[in-house]
Amino acid sequence: MSGTSLDGIDAVLVGFEQDHPIVLSKFFMPYAEDLKRSILELQHPSHDELHLTQLMGNRLAELYSGAVHSLLAQEPHLPVRAIGCHGQTIRHRPDLGYTLQIGNAALLAELTGITVISDFRSRDVAAGGQGAPLVPAFHDRVFRHPEIHRAIVNIGGISNLTDLTPGLPATGFDCGPGNMLMDAWCMEHLQEPYDRDGSWAESGKVLPGLLDRLLAEPYFMLPPPKSSGRDLFNLGWLKNHLQNDEAPEDVQATLLQLTAATIAQAIHGAQEIYLCGGGAHNIALRRALSRLLPATIIRTTNDAGIDGDYLEAIAFAWLARQNLMGIPANLPLVTGAAHPCILGAVYSA
Ligand SMILES: Nc1ncnc2c1ncn2[C@@H]1O[C@H](COP(=O)(O)OP(=O)(O)O)[C@@H](O)[C@H]1O
Ligand SMILES: [Mg+2]
Repeated sequence: MSGTSLDGIDAVLVGFEQDHPIVLSKFFMPYAEDLKRSILELQHPSHDELHLTQLMGNRLAELYSGAVHSLLAQEPHLPVRAIGCHGQTIRHRPDLGYTLQIGNAALLAELTGITVISDFRSRDVAAGGQGAPLVPAFHDRVFRHPEIHRAIVNIGGISNLTDLTPGLPATGFDCGPGNMLMDAWCMEHLQEPYDRDGSWAESGKVLPGLLDRLLAEPYFMLPPPKSSGRDLFNLGWLKNHLQNDEAPEDVQATLLQLTAATIAQAIHGAQEIYLCGGGAHNIALRRALSRLLPATIIRTTNDAGIDGDYLEAIAFAWLARQNLMGIPANLPLVTGAAHPCILGAVYSA
């Protein structure tokens, strides 16, 4: 898994008993700064971008292969059935009928000798869906409680929510920016990839006027199904809302509050929230969420036995498994697809 935060690659070797994951080894490979910059450049139109995108796909396949080999070095004797490889999103435009995750899956199969399942989102988009989020089906299998209303919130570059109301099918959507804007602002002003524990944000104060302008973004008012990415929430979007007299730490405090507020307004009556993704480490963000949802118990998925830093990687291993078993894994109620689909393209070993 390599998400929109562009922090790096989460790799996990996982087996399943029914749908329950058993994690055998984990490996995180951070992206070098120059790689991150090059991927960011591919998010916008540029000269010769088609060629550059293909070259980047090859480079990513080599990194994914390195991550796989590091995982297997920890468990050398286990046969591996398949790799589920999400790839790196460089465009997400379900409104125009496409979403693009790069990472040359054919090359990854070649470099590892293992069958690769990739391009999980396109089939759902082809069926009229958002192609995202895809993790709610997995959340439903592992976190549903018969009596307790739970919500799972993944705070990656974008934050997404899965609602598990007892007796009702799972619902979910992308709430809005998770870490992405905070990371970008932090890089611009502190030359740091992220605001550790949200401490810089806590040194500033929320600017109510700016927060209101950001919250007025029509995306937040749209009913689900909906999904988002860097195509909408990027530094340019933020700067369009600034008056340029704000203290940088106050902007950071406001961005943190924006993430918390858009998550809180997506929660409808859940008794328990389980956080996962890198944003779950952001202590200030968790405090802000608790203030907005005082009656809700807020935990991390680690408290439920699944490492929140690897949950999405585990979910894509599960999605790969569903593909190989010929089982549709999108939730039309979540993505808006016209029907259930088998997700992913197979590159056989
Ligand atoms: N200790 C921390 N404090 C604040 N933010 C953190 C911390 N650890 C990780 N993060 C955030 O989590 C992000 C990575 O989250 P991740 O779940 O991998 O997102 P994605 O799926 O988009 O790659 C980092 O870019 C950073 O913003
Ligand atoms: Mg990540």
